[in-house]
Amino acid sequence: MYSTRFFLFTRRSKQMKNMLTIFILSLLVLSTLPSSPAEPPNVCIIGSGIAGSSVAHFLRQYSASDDPPTIGQIQIFERNGVVGGRMATVSVSGETFEAGASILHPKNFHALNFTKLLNLKIRKPSSSSFSLGIWDGHKFVFKTLTSNSKLPLVQKMVSLTNSILMFVRYGFSLFRMNNFVESAVDSFLKYYESVESRPVFKTVDEMLKWAGLYNFTKRTLQAELVDAGLAPLLMEELVTVITRINYGQSICMSGLAGAVSLAGSGGGLWSIEGGNWQMAAGLINRSDVALHLHTEIQSISYLGDYYELNSTEGNSYTCKVTVIATPLDELNIRFIPAISIPERKLQHTHATFVRGLLNPAYFGFEAVSEIPELVGTIEDPELPFSSISVLKQHNETDMTYKIFSREPMEDALLDHIFSVRRETVRINWGAYPHYSAPERFAPFLLDGLDLYYVNAFENAASTMETSAVAAENIARLILLRFSGQVDSSLSNLKRSNSCTSTLHSDL
Ligand SMILES: Cc1cc2nc3c(=O)[nH]c(=O)nc-3n(C[C@H](O)[C@H](O)[C@H](O)COP(=O)(O)OP(=O)(O)OC[C@H]3O[C@@H](n4cnc5c(N)ncnc54)[C@H](O)[C@@H]3O)c2cc1C
Ligand SMILES: *[C@@H]1O[C@H](CO)[C@@H](O)[C@H](O)[C@H]1NC(C)=O
Ligand SMILES: *[C@@H]1O[C@H](CO)[C@@H](O)[C@H](O)[C@H]1NC(C)=O
Ligand SMILES: *[C@@H]1O[C@H](CO)[C@@H](O)[C@H](O)[C@H]1NC(C)=O
Ligand SMILES: *[C@@H]1O[C@H](CO)[C@@H](O)[C@H](O)[C@H]1NC(C)=O
Ligand SMILES: *[C@@H]1O[C@H](CO)[C@@H](O)[C@H](O)[C@H]1NC(C)=O
Repeated sequence: MYSTRFFLFTRRSKQMKNMLTIFILSLLVLSTLPSSPAEPPNVCIIGSGIAGSSVAHFLRQYSASDDPPTIGQIQIFERNGVVGGRMATVSVSGETFEAGASILHPKNFHALNFTKLLNLKIRKPSSSSFSLGIWDGHKFVFKTLTSNSKLPLVQKMVSLTNSILMFVRYGFSLFRMNNFVESAVDSFLKYYESVESRPVFKTVDEMLKWAGLYNFTKRTLQAELVDAGLAPLLMEELVTVITRINYGQSICMSGLAGAVSLAGSGGGLWSIEGGNWQMAAGLINRSDVALHLHTEIQSISYLGDYYELNSTEGNSYTCKVTVIATPLDELNIRFIPAISIPERKLQHTHATFVRGLLNPAYFGFEAVSEIPELVGTIEDPELPFSSISVLKQHNETDMTYKIFSREPMEDALLDHIFSVRRETVRINWGAYPHYSAPERFAPFLLDGLDLYYVNAFENAASTMETSAVAAENIARLILLRFSGQVDSSLSNLKRSNSCTSTLHSDL
């Protein structure tokens, strides 16, 4: 561009030529200075789940009016052929069901906003009063009434009776449990305060302390609930059933994840018609992202001022900013130089989908209709599953069920539990962290430079919404760094000096 103009002007005067030479030279000098208004930084995001897609969305949303733009190209790398990660559907005999993350809380405000923004449809659970049974391996220690009636009045009566049954068994502890959950949810709402009054957090610890949630991560759910005055029976039964369903874990899990799990058992729960993964798809679609499907990143090298990401196919990508939006715990990504984060294990949840019919004899019943729609279980190592629930009743003798278990459900076992099995689909999820108090958190900034880790927040709790909340903070952290006022304290973080070892060498 300059050279064309240069030739144009040289014909006019020698003086002009000299002036231009100086001008060009000074341009060249300027362009080598780090402060030059060069290309805006490009951002590479590893993972296309709700965390990765939300980072892209908030980066674009919060910098939409920046001129010149604060953020350049955004690329998302996804090893699978579809976006969404743990938001995924499964097809059982031609029908589609949520296979991973399935329910949203009425106060999941980012998810609600995404739904609106993307014109997605909200789905509410069809029946308000499903029956629940708590199975101890031999008998149901608690069972609500089942009603097949479609009459609203009958449904209301059944639901009222069930509330009374609950109260008779667990007493006022139920209200104490409710208060405990509500106070945690209220604290969480602080993360929706306007960006003017809400700080940008550099660490998970800081972020949790600010909302008053940090202490919950330092003690077990059991310790928190004892302090809240819950009766042991409620903890051993209902609370345990819920933590086993939502996180595949016992009440020994840390308190915050436990509270989140209990919040996910209340009323007003919802999901997205056609699949929650559409949130990720929609956010990516409208955030001007270059999406690389079937692209697994296997190494991240810091080469001074930028990162080089290599895929398993042998491609290299150059990134000013790199965001890891997936749990690192079971990955073999090589970091050069190495990074070190606290050890964390993932809880595996085996989701088994069966189209067929339960065997009433397994539960000591004569008729299938006596089996509750949701069978939860207490904590007992002998029990082969955490829960069995009816996803859909096709007719009286044909249903689709979802089973959660910590170990795979072998055919022989399923043949005991089911009298008919038309189709079985098994998914082994590296589902969420195995929570243990006190939690220790990896930093959001892994190297003190431009390598971010959204899923450091997953030690607090793992949900679609918490991923979005953490992603929003990461987007603000990135923008803060590149919008002129570089926060120097960010680069004071420790960085490992070892150059060859891989991540988790200590795991
Ligand atoms: C069975 C189950 C039930 C759940 N139920 C609920 C629920 O009801 N409600 C709720 O809110 N939450 C639920 N959760 C939790 C919820 O799914 C997660 O918290 C949330 O989806 C995490 O999103 P994420 O984007 O952080 O991670 P992920 O969704 O795991 O996304 C990470 C992505 O990164 C990709 N990836 C990984 N490594 C690489 C690599 N090297 N290169 C390229 N790509 C890579 C992965 O393929 C994946 O797509 C459930 C989870 C499970 C497993
Ligand atoms: C949801 O969107 C509305 C309108 O754009 C906005 O005012 C509100 O702050 C958003 N809520 C969250 C939690 O971001
Ligand atoms: C958290 O615990 C610390 C020490 O145990 C205590 O000083 C602090 O007040 C607690 N914070 C909240 C919000 O409860
Ligand atoms: C992407 O967004 C455009 C509108 O911006 C819409 O027409 C299109 O259907 C979307 N595609 C997907 C896959 O969501
Ligand atoms: C990444 O790929 C480039 C180009 O092929 C190569 O030079 C580099 O050594 C690779 N890095 C790692 C860590 O393998
Ligand atoms: C229920 O559905 C199954 C399989 O679709 C079918 O074989 C059976 O006849 C149906 N039963 C009734 C009572 O409709």
